[in-house]
Amino acid sequence: MRTKKRGFYFRVIALSLILIQCRNSDTVPQLGKNSIKEVIAVMTPQEKAMLLVGADPGFPRGYPSGFGGADTLFDSQPPVVGATRKVVPGAAGNTHAIPRLGIPSLVLADGPAGVRIDPNRQDTNITFYATAFPIETMLASTWDTTVVSDVGKAMGNEALEYGVDILLAPALNIHRNPLGGRNFEYYSEDPLVSGLMAAAFVNGVQSNGVGTSLKHYAANNNETNRMNIDVQVDQKALHEIYLKGFGLALAYSKPWTVMSAYNKINGTYCSENSYLLRQVLRDEFGFNGATMTDWFGGRNYLNQIKAGTNILMPGSSYIVAQFAEAIKNGDLDEKVVNKAIEEILSVVMKSPKFKDYKYSNTPDLELHSVVSKDAAIEGAVLLENRKNTLPIDKTGLHKVALFGIGSYETIPGGTGSGSVNSAYSISVLQGLQKAGFTIPEKLIQENIKYIQEAKKKAGQKDWYFAPDIRLEEKAWKLAYLEQSASECDIAILTLRRTSGEFSDRALKNDFELSDTEKDLVKNLSSSFHKAGKKLVVLLNIGGVIETTSWNQNADAILNIWQPGQEGGNAVADLLLGKADPSGKLTMTFPKKYTDVPSAALFPNPKDNPQSAIYSEGTYVGYRNYLAKNIEPQYEFGYGLSYTHFNFSDFKLVADHSKGIISVAAKVTNVGNFSGKEVLQLYVKTPQNKYLELKAFKKTRLLKPGEAVLMEISININDLRDFNPHAGGWVLVNGNYEINLGTSCKNIIDTKEVEL
Ligand code: GLC
Repeated sequence: MRTKKRGFYFRVIALSLILIQCRNSDTVPQLGKNSIKEVIAVMTPQEKAMLLVGADPGFPRGYPSGFGGADTLFDSQPPVVGATRKVVPGAAGNTHAIPRLGIPSLVLADGPAGVRIDPNRQDTNITFYATAFPIETMLASTWDTTVVSDVGKAMGNEALEYGVDILLAPALNIHRNPLGGRNFEYYSEDPLVSGLMAAAFVNGVQSNGVGTSLKHYAANNNETNRMNIDVQVDQKALHEIYLKGFGLALAYSKPWTVMSAYNKINGTYCSENSYLLRQVLRDEFGFNGATMTDWFGGRNYLNQIKAGTNILMPGSSYIVAQFAEAIKNGDLDEKVVNKAIEEILSVVMKSPKFKDYKYSNTPDLELHSVVSKDAAIEGAVLLENRKNTLPIDKTGLHKVALFGIGSYETIPGGTGSGSVNSAYSISVLQGLQKAGFTIPEKLIQENIKYIQEAKKKAGQKDWYFAPDIRLEEKAWKLAYLEQSASECDIAILTLRRTSGEFSDRALKNDFELSDTEKDLVKNLSSSFHKAGKKLVVLLNIGGVIETTSWNQNADAILNIWQPGQEGGNAVADLLLGKADPSGKLTMTFPKKYTDVPSAALFPNPKDNPQSAIYSEGTYVGYRNYLAKNIEPQYEFGYGLSYTHFNFSDFKLVADHSKGIISVAAKVTNVGNFSGKEVLQLYVKTPQNKYLELKAFKKTRLLKPGEAVLMEISININDLRDFNPHAGGWVLVNGNYEINLGTSCKNIIDTKEVEL
């Protein structure tokens, strides 16, 4: 009897203690002090709904309402109690705070070429500039993951010091077609380059303790009708080309988040696609962070959560209310909601906000400008260098006839969400002048006057984020060019292209040169050749252009892409031979647009504008040109140097027990300049009719005569084909050709291995 009584009293005391505990507000479970499960257990439906939806569309007012699709309401948010609304003006969005539970609001900011935030604020006169790094295409053209990681480290530091918790990058969609509007923000036509560059970038950024977002998952390869277009793609191509890069990125890095793409794949929005978001992303690729929609992406919000989306960005109060109701009435399954919130809170707990990091707002922009310049130098691709036109021997040359709008207003990067507000941007003119070249003053004035007129004529673009309007080149009189040829020692012409989100590119006056540009190249070439002088053409572009019809006129062609804020200085170092161009193309420059396998159907069939039919399957980029013996103008992996290399002692060892194929080769610099080479390993599997890049490695700087033994390994697992009929990735038995090359066409040696 006595023990029973004691037990009763004990239970009464225990219960009352718990009651006191709950009633006493400052002992409400706190994120970080209590387990995530305990925090979730006391959440109201409203609080749960808030965590599944962004807190604040950080977009500038006046954002075209139709942009977000007919039924997206992104009314201005009433500030949510405790939400750190606008803590970083210009950031793309925020998550909700729930102060009662110790949950801070995270700040999410773009983008792939630098932290995009407003450079000025109302309440202070200090500035918030960020470093404009080279575009992702140029970073990939370095073929050096260390360079990409260094850029990530610098960019991640700027995110940290400006109060950003998650940087919405890297973007790694495939360059399916040269006219893809956002190719500048992507790495390559090849999934291996894309995935390994993305992983290096993620590791660099996240070494600062801030997060990243792999985007846009997946097959977001064009801008036309991007919010609704239905990508129809077969399983082999989907897995081997469009998902592969994400799988590699997730094999070599742990991004905090993944952003799903706007488009549908085979009928279902990516953000509503549980096969993509759960089966592939989490089960196959091992992702364990949080996924978010692209801004205003998708259609059915409840389906997005049910399919595995964690957060709808940028969010709206309308959706919060809808979700709170759905949680209450069971439309949203509590288990699904709690799982999604667990994954979100795991990310929150890693964030600088949660750790209450006191960011300075003064990152070391000076130091980062050097990182930006070095990356630009490493990513420039020398396409032609007839009779060693370059490097320019400065002693013998001082007067440069500098032509082309891009020489005077060099484009550092693309527009849209991937734009960057940097403090300055060095043009080719400024870089050359700083390096001691002389450009005749009257030529400078002529060009600047013309550019001002052309800008006035072009007018203002209709919206801050819209792509910049392309300016036509001046139609220089032949006599004027011949006069320049008599006065100057060399001609340098920069052909520039804008690039930007929201629209795909055009053939006329974009992929192709305009008539004025063609005349300028031809007349500059003839005028200077007649005077026994040379023409150097610089390509300041965000994506592939046509080069076959005019490249013979140029003695040298250096592709400087959109090189970031230090572009002009990088160009000067390269032209002077202070640095050796060592970049390689990560996408093919076809001889003509119709050679492109997706040309006929890009971006979508006229009779069915709601769909993009990827009928070329895996025959994307170099895979297509090699399989069909179509000669490109400049192939994937191509890039010249000022020096030359020899290769010897190519050895291959297949260690089946470890599942590794190891390759070794000796590289010797047999030229007169210090330079770097990129070894590329292309494999021909028994199944496929083309070579596929399976590994690459860039040498360190080799002095003339210096040699280095390079060792590269291939994971035998990476040689599997995706066979939907055999349930997925299978390693086919048979004979594998391992090709060592310095481009997809320049194969130096081949070994065979039986698997
Ligand atoms: C944009 C882009 C995405 C960006 C996001 C936030 O529309 O598609 O890349 O991160 O919205 O700006």
